[in-house]
Amino acid sequence: MVRVLFVCLGNICRSPTADGVFRKLVAEHGLTHQIESDSAGVSDYHAGEPPDERAMQAAGRRGIDLRPMRARQVLPADFTDFDLVLAMDRSVFRVLVELARTHGGDGADDRVGLFMDYAPHLGKTEVPDPYLGGSRGFDRVLDLIEEAVRGLLDDIRSARSP
Ligand code: 4NP
Repeated sequence: MVRVLFVCLGNICRSPTADGVFRKLVAEHGLTHQIESDSAGVSDYHAGEPPDERAMQAAGRRGIDLRPMRARQVLPADFTDFDLVLAMDRSVFRVLVELARTHGGDGADDRVGLFMDYAPHLGKTEVPDPYLGGSRGFDRVLDLIEEAVRGLLDDIRSARSP
């Protein structure tokens, strides 16, 4: 079993979207029993809330249902429960590395990565925060996420194949 945690700031826009898109891709490949994912935020601003309405709408137009998701903050246990803890931007990445070093135990920071590193052909290091922008920002987020989850799944599959 491989476990992946997607992390942004509020856990209502980018990371639940990445989780939803990744789950769909994993299901399409028949890998739901081998790969699990979840999402979280480095803040607790929106803990317990469903995703942002605009994120749900944009994902829904691509056949992805984010409605059951609820925001939560990252926990120390996440650095042992998940094999990969992937940040949506550099500021989240820095917070995760610090949390992993202070609360995550030996080598926990090795599990922390930057999500867009899985789509190197795009030359982007971040999924831009769409929270204060218009609904188009959410489609842009989905476009970037769709590319990076493909790279992520390819990477997991090639790392696990004999
Ligand atoms: P997310 O977007 O990190 O992609 O979930 C945000 C959601 C809420 C806030 C910031 C970013 N906020 O400041 O409340």
